[in-house]
Parts: sequence; C-alpha cells; structure tokens
Amino acid sequence: MSIPEHALLRALLTQDAGWVSGETLAEKFGVSRVAVWQHFEKLRQAGYTLESQRSKGYRLVAPPNDVHAPLIDLLLKVRPRNFTFTVLNEVDSTNSEAVRELAADRATPFAIIARSQTKGRGRFGRAWHSEANGNLYITFAFRPRLEPARMTPFTLWMGLNLCEVIANFTQLSPGLKWPNDLLFNGRKAGGILTEARIDADQIRDLVFGVGVNVNSPAKNWPSDLGKSAVSLTELTGAPLDFNRLTAAIIGRMLLAYEKFTGGDYHDSFADLWHRYDVLRGKNVTVLEGKTRHTGLVTGVDDEGALLMRDARGRTQRFRAGEVTIEKSPAI
Ligand code: BTN
Repeated sequence: MSIPEHALLRALLTQDAGWVSGETLAEKFGVSRVAVWQHFEKLRQAGYTLESQRSKGYRLVAPPNDVHAPLIDLLLKVRPRNFTFTVLNEVDSTNSEAVRELAADRATPFAIIARSQTKGRGRFGRAWHSEANGNLYITFAFRPRLEPARMTPFTLWMGLNLCEVIANFTQLSPGLKWPNDLLFNGRKAGGILTEARIDADQIRDLVFGVGVNVNSPAKNWPSDLGKSAVSLTELTGAPLDFNRLTAAIIGRMLLAYEKFTGGDYHDSFADLWHRYDVLRGKNVTVLEGKTRHTGLVTGVDDEGALLMRDARGRTQRFRAGEVTIEKSPAI
C-alpha cells in the first residue's frame, strides 16, 4: 500500500507549523516508515522545503514556488465537479493548447496551466514574456452557448474579478486598465487574452488566458519590459505562495464565469468597476486600428465599451482599442 498524495499534503497543510508524525502516518496507511520517508522525499523533489526530525516527524517550512497539481487540487475548495485541469512543463501557448483540446472534444470547463510558454501571446499579436520562473500562465476553456452579443463585457468582468482575487490575496491595490491590463501604479503585472469561436448565432467555445507576473523579479526580464512591468513579489517584498494563489484565481474565475453566463453579475460589475477602474476621469488616447482618438474617459456602458468625451463634447464609444493615459490634458 502507499499513502495517497492528497492525504500527505493535507496532513502537512493542516499542521499549522506543527509536526506530522511519520510513525502515525505509517500506522494509518499500513506502510513502513521508510515508505513514509520516500513519500516525503518525493515532495522535496517537487520543490517543498521540509524539516524532518527523528523524534517529531516532518514539518512544512515552505511550499514549492512552482505549480504542483495535487496541491492545487487539494486547495480548490469549491469547484464544479466536472472541472479538470492539466499542468504542462512547456507549451507554445496555453491558449493554443486549449483551442486544440476543444477541437479534440475535451469536456469543458477545463484549464491548461504551463510552467513556461514558447509562443505566449498577448493582444494585437504581441509576444507575452513567458519564462519558467514562478509566473502564472493559465487558460480556461468554456462552451458558453450564448449569443455573441451577450459576451461583450466578458473580458472586463473577468478582469475585475482577477483584480479582486489578487487584492484579497496580496492586500495590494491593483487596478484594471480597460479592457484587460492588470496594473499597479501604472506598471503591468498581468494581462488577459480572450479568444472565441463563433457560429452563426452563438459562441461555440471560448478560451480565456491569464498571465500574471507572480514571483519572477523584473530585473531578469528583457530590458524593454523592465520599466513598464512589475511582478507581485516585487510589490509585496516576499515570494507569494504560488499554488495557493493559483487555486484562488481558478476558484474565482470559475465562479465569475458561472455568474456571467447566469446573467447574475450586473450589480457586482458596477461595484467592482468603481473599485478597480483606473481610467475614469483620465485624459487618454485610444488607438483604434490606425486612428487615434483623444478625450476624457467617462466610464463604460452595459456592453463593456469604453466611453470617452472628446474635445467637442461628444461621447465616443470604443469596443476595442489600445488606451494610453496622457500625462498632460488631451483636451
Ligand atoms: C495582454 O495583456 O496582451 C494579454 C496577455 C495574456 C497572456 C496570457 S499567458 C496565458 C495565456 N496564453 C497566452 O498565450 N496568452 C495568455
């Protein structure tokens, strides 16, 4: 017999800086103490820092700074029964992998998590820096079966929920720059890329990719990112518990998706928008294709489109575009 991995992890996590007795585990699961030791060695190899003492047993000193699927599984308290996730060491893009799996009929909802991406992508076909160093690259796949018109505020809604879960987890104050940038004092710590396949009158499926700079220090990144990007660890001053954060994000995203598709999100949307929007009252330039528009942001409408008052007092509405906040007044 062997010890189920989740039982071992649960014992370690619930000991609150106490000790897990190897002898007790050996008795409970009918294995030798050597077998218990081997199990803990496996956890060490997976990145867990453990202290062991002959008389006391084992104690968790630090969790792994790397995705560990059984731990995420254990930490996901509330989740739909049919949700599954896959962890990959390296992939071109978690969005691309999710699209391939949808095409191969994998049941939804599911998520793909990768330690690194070789072709991570962002909006406007830009590359997303995806080194293997404690950052989160995750894509959720859904089959919402909704009319395309109902999906328009989706990315914004999910982005607001991402802000909220990160704020709760870190006690930091993130902001959302319409439509998909997770910012801290103007520096980007995360982004979202939603891609949908649409049939005539309904969404066939969609993938929702989230990249968050968690534990990788910006000094390691390409120099062009250095000033504009930031990671959560730089802001908190300490490494974050990667698997707990990942589990919290998964739980929140699944809940947010359910609320969205159930139509039960409008009040929370307004509330979260006021809390996390960084554009309201700001002078901005919106790049829409090759055209630049300048004006003052007044809010978003029910469809998630950005509203901007231009120099002539007219309200312009943008469903897509890239926003730059202007330092000096644009109008
Ligand atoms: C952006 O800000 O432009 C969006 C960035 C989205 C990056 C994530 S990382 C996980 C998923 N896989 C990708 O290739 N892109 C998204």
